[in-house]
Amino acid sequence: MKKLLVTSALPYANGPIHLGHLVEYIQTDIWVRYWRLRARDAIYLCADDTHGTPIMIRARDEGIQPEELIERSHKSHREDFDRFYIQFDNYYSTHSEENRELSSEIYNQLKAGGHIAERNIEQAYCVQCGMFLPDRYIRGECPKCGAEDQYGDSCEICMATYTSRDLVEPFCAECAMSPEWRESKHLFFKLGDFQDRLKDWLDAGHTQEEIANKLREWFEDGLKDWDISRDAPYFGFEIPGEENKYFYVWLDAPVGYMASTADWCNRNGANFDDYWRSDDSEVYHFIGKDITYFHALFWPAMLMGSGFRTPTQLCVHGFLTVDGAKMSKSRGTFVNAATYLEHLDPQYLRYYYATKLNSRVEDIDLSFDDFVSRVDSDLVNKLANIPSRVLSIVHKRCGGELAAMDETGRALFDQVRSQADNVGEQYAAREFAQVTRSLNEMAADINTYLNDHIPWTVAKEDPAAANIVLTSALNAFKVVATLLKPILPEFSQKVADMLRLDDLAWDDLDTVLENCPVNKYDRLADRVDRKKIDAMVEATRESFSQAEDVAAPVLTTDALVDCAFETMLLASTEPLTDTDKLSKLTVTAQDGPRQVIAGLGHDVAERGVVGKNLLVLANLEPKKLRGHESQGMILAGTVDDVPIPVQVPDPQTRCHVE
Ligand code: 2FM
Ligand code: ZN
Repeated sequence: MKKLLVTSALPYANGPIHLGHLVEYIQTDIWVRYWRLRARDAIYLCADDTHGTPIMIRARDEGIQPEELIERSHKSHREDFDRFYIQFDNYYSTHSEENRELSSEIYNQLKAGGHIAERNIEQAYCVQCGMFLPDRYIRGECPKCGAEDQYGDSCEICMATYTSRDLVEPFCAECAMSPEWRESKHLFFKLGDFQDRLKDWLDAGHTQEEIANKLREWFEDGLKDWDISRDAPYFGFEIPGEENKYFYVWLDAPVGYMASTADWCNRNGANFDDYWRSDDSEVYHFIGKDITYFHALFWPAMLMGSGFRTPTQLCVHGFLTVDGAKMSKSRGTFVNAATYLEHLDPQYLRYYYATKLNSRVEDIDLSFDDFVSRVDSDLVNKLANIPSRVLSIVHKRCGGELAAMDETGRALFDQVRSQADNVGEQYAAREFAQVTRSLNEMAADINTYLNDHIPWTVAKEDPAAANIVLTSALNAFKVVATLLKPILPEFSQKVADMLRLDDLAWDDLDTVLENCPVNKYDRLADRVDRKKIDAMVEATRESFSQAEDVAAPVLTTDALVDCAFETMLLASTEPLTDTDKLSKLTVTAQDGPRQVIAGLGHDVAERGVVGKNLLVLANLEPKKLRGHESQGMILAGTVDDVPIPVQVPDPQTRCHVE
């Protein structure tokens, strides 16, 4: 049997893991756990994807070094994954020496093979931010429909695609400055050199047919060169032989799969080349459909051009929707893994996702009502119910010891056992929804057997006869719990503990437990409390609305150019005692006295501001507040929650923002 190397896509190091990510990690983890159950030599590798502009900017915004940000993310990602029982053999980082070396090696090979071209390109540069602006960081008016505030590559309103050079009145999304256009040398990977080999690779069935069909459309226009370099400043690896040029994050990200392998091999006495320079291994990448292009074209071509093996299979999945709609921060359905864990058992999600997952690329929906009913009816009522009922009677009436099965009981066991290979095939084919259906049918057979033989009634008169039934049901359930192990490892381990076994193994499927003691029932799953789901959604909504409160929108100077700020002398204040905190302030403007109603508290006069020059927004349209006309707005800052008006020391100062 060939060794297996399995990966999930590397999550970016600038954000938390959320329920959308978990579709993929749970899917991959179930698959790898299945192979481990079958004693295949399988390793599951991942890493954080740490490079690129968003990570550099996020660190800059937080006033920390990118290294600190990626270390923090690494820790929090690992914690989330552990708590969802995602069992990586290695969780590494793309910001590692191994990755630098491998990325450079691949690049050097591509260059030596003549697959790297150089060209000058013109790009938006923000002088204020001191960096070139990727398409997502440049905004402006759509050149096609005129919609404002659109990204540099496409319009969300009319769906037009264009280049950032075409945007009308472009501005930097970070600081709102108009960018300059600067020319610099870029390095391109000549993807077209691999067109024929890539076509053959796709035709050979290395990904789902629907994905291959989509990719074939791209071949029709010919594959375009891919820009793999970025100018400084950039958080990433410097390109060998170039100055101030860095690999674009998507060049070194998939190489992170290899770097994680190298690190794992170093620490486990294994040989890197056995995985990446050999056909004696199989390499599986689980990815979302949005990153197919990178994995099905760039990545195999990079590998082909540098003497490494290509992936055995890309296992592409769809997106997660929640209650039929895109995950939404404002609706509270953009749930982070950590928030979920504050309210719900991770096993519920593993089980629920399993009931929805198959080998196709279609999106999966997390419907909260369905989630509750699946967990309650399958996990609690059908599956956990069997050992719960059986073990309580075994302990109450049969001294905590099993008996031996009779012919009928053996028939039940054999019937359930005979399904195992079929379930195994469903796992191997990533048809996890079918697996859960099969396991529920097996559990239903066991429950029917128990209901037909009513051991709870029989035990009162004839505990020995009841125990034959209980023993048979429990042995049949042991098969189900073993087959459930890839989906619910903790559940299965608890069953093993109840049966006084170290663990539940595929090789022990035929081993039956007879005439031996068993432990008492240990609660396996609780019904889902719908209120906890509501609380989780509310907590999510709340966390994003708070984040939005502090994150002020980015303004252009257009928003300020119409403001006339003026220094005005504060002559007197009068509290409006029928309000909580409004005071009437009389100020002297250039054109005479004015009255301003301000929410500065009734005691604003006690803050030493009367007779001082204050900064006032002078051209606000007059407005009535609680029956009093207000003719401007006093600018203030808060200190310990107390608003303090902004004072201007020089009485002659006139401040207009142009
Ligand atoms: O789309 C993403 O989230 C990327 N960070 C995935 C990278 S996968 C691999 F290529 F590194
Ligand atoms: Zn800027």
